[in-house]
Amino acid sequence: MASTEGIRKKIRLLFVCLGNICRSPAAEGIMSGIVEKNDLRDVVDVDSAGTSGWHEGELPDERMRSHGEGRGYNFNSRARKFKKSDFDDFDYILVMDLQNFANVRAMATGQEQKEKIHMITEFSRQYAYDHVPDPYYGGASGFELVLDLLEDACEGLLQTIKKRYNLG
Ligand code: 4NP
Repeated sequence: MASTEGIRKKIRLLFVCLGNICRSPAAEGIMSGIVEKNDLRDVVDVDSAGTSGWHEGELPDERMRSHGEGRGYNFNSRARKFKKSDFDDFDYILVMDLQNFANVRAMATGQEQKEKIHMITEFSRQYAYDHVPDPYYGGASGFELVLDLLEDACEGLLQTIKKRYNLG
């Protein structure tokens, strides 16, 4: 029998918020940087989506982009709507708040799909927030908080993944 050693299916992460122009593209950019830094770009794939299609095709919100640039990130993904086939295409579906959780969960069929859905804050190490607050209608501090929470939780997520998949 041919050995399958060395052939590993990629671990696929999808970050989800409402508009896919503030929180989830920031999470995608932050996690991509962490994956790079850990030399895991051949092992882990990262994407993001929104439960609404309101901003489909758009770059992230200017404010999110500029706060990201302040920390050395370039958030440049294009918004898309979450779809049912994402349950097949991703291993972890990481939502930002309870509204996203409920919307995604309502589209899941079966236990396996439901178990893929996690609040991103489950992986927080330093912060006690149980969700990532929507910054869209607020001021600058809301965008900085999003970055603080996501930098922390994405590091925690990588540690969990490393343990689960024996990535050293
Ligand atoms: P996001 O933020 O879900 O973090 O991308 C929002 C973006 C747009 C709207 C709300 C939240 N909106 O109402 O258009």
